[in-house]
Amino acid sequence: MRVRLQEPWSIGGVEVPTRIVLAPMAGVSIQAFRRQGRRFGAGLVCSEMVSAAGIEHRNERTFGYLRVAGDEHPLAIQIFGADPGAMAHAARMVEAAGADIVDMNFGCPVRKVTKTGAGAHLMEDAELACRVVDAVTAAVNVPVTVKMRLGVANGSRTCLELGPRLVEAGAAALTLHPRSAQQMYTGEADHAVTAELVERVDVPVIASGDVTSREKALAVLEQTDAAAVMVARGAQGNPWALREIAEGESFKPTREEVAAELVVFIREAVRELGEQRAVGFLKKFYGWYLGHGRFPKPFKQELVQLQTLDEVEQRLLAAAPGARFVLERLEDELPQGDEVLLDLPISIYGGG
Ligand SMILES: Cc1cc2nc3c(=O)[nH]c(=O)nc-3n(C[C@H](O)[C@H](O)[C@H](O)COP(=O)(O)O)c2cc1C
Repeated sequence: MRVRLQEPWSIGGVEVPTRIVLAPMAGVSIQAFRRQGRRFGAGLVCSEMVSAAGIEHRNERTFGYLRVAGDEHPLAIQIFGADPGAMAHAARMVEAAGADIVDMNFGCPVRKVTKTGAGAHLMEDAELACRVVDAVTAAVNVPVTVKMRLGVANGSRTCLELGPRLVEAGAAALTLHPRSAQQMYTGEADHAVTAELVERVDVPVIASGDVTSREKALAVLEQTDAAAVMVARGAQGNPWALREIAEGESFKPTREEVAAELVVFIREAVRELGEQRAVGFLKKFYGWYLGHGRFPKPFKQELVQLQTLDEVEQRLLAAAPGARFVLERLEDELPQGDEVLLDLPISIYGGG
């Protein structure tokens, strides 16, 4: 069966307008990224992971604060932790803050997370994983979803046993990134396992891993019968990939469009993180935006070395003077207001 990428679907009672989900990425999926993703065709966006323990004890080193804006919805906020009570508490907080969906991270392979029993570690402890899902579903009225990997060790297919149990415990949808935690990001995502998971559960499955083009998105949907695809690395500095996946035409942005989008992104990141944090945070984005043959390589080096974001903006607008007009149009079109600032610690050591 061929699913149309522009066809709405739903998770629990939440309608999702397209089959493209923008992935949670720690250190990337700030509000600017999520709003941009929605503008470019993602039907659902997800926050980076928020520590349940950090919410409970208020002692987590915070990277910034999570903001939720009106134009992000539907929005999933991802939480991680291994204590059912703390996760339930965190879920209530993010629901109150405006999350349409509470997503839980059972896939993060980073040791700092797994050693606390959270992230991918939960793939190895089915009983606890189910208790967490049970506690969280009981705590909130919005749908609760889980993002998994294949399992911890290479060759593991734990997700196929765990997935149905999580659904029984209350999960309204599952995302699978079919690599083992041990694999991190090496090798290829094994979507044959995604197809098996789809067979085994009666809730929507989102296929995550190596979806970077429309061709790949359609191939994964065809192979797996999943409800939607998730795009992570392919959207870094490249929202045009989302548009291409959604609409089918190849969108090769002009330099002016790239510069204008990057300037909007910089301005929003400053608003969200404050200038000081934004300077460091944004550096990786310069390479992502300016690569793909869009600008000469030394230009990125030049931007990274500039002291202030004002200078970065000036330099970008000088390199693509027509960007000013694109920028004016973009700023006019961006919805304003309707924003909630949440005092939720964002983790800096994510993955999934
Ligand atoms: C920088 C980075 C940060 C990530 N952070 C998270 C996270 O916080 N939560 C999560 O569930 N997955 C996280 N992931 C995993 C992605 O959501 C996605 O499943 C994975 O990258 C595979 O998709 P891709 O091939 O489209 O990149 C992260 C991935 C990257 C590259």
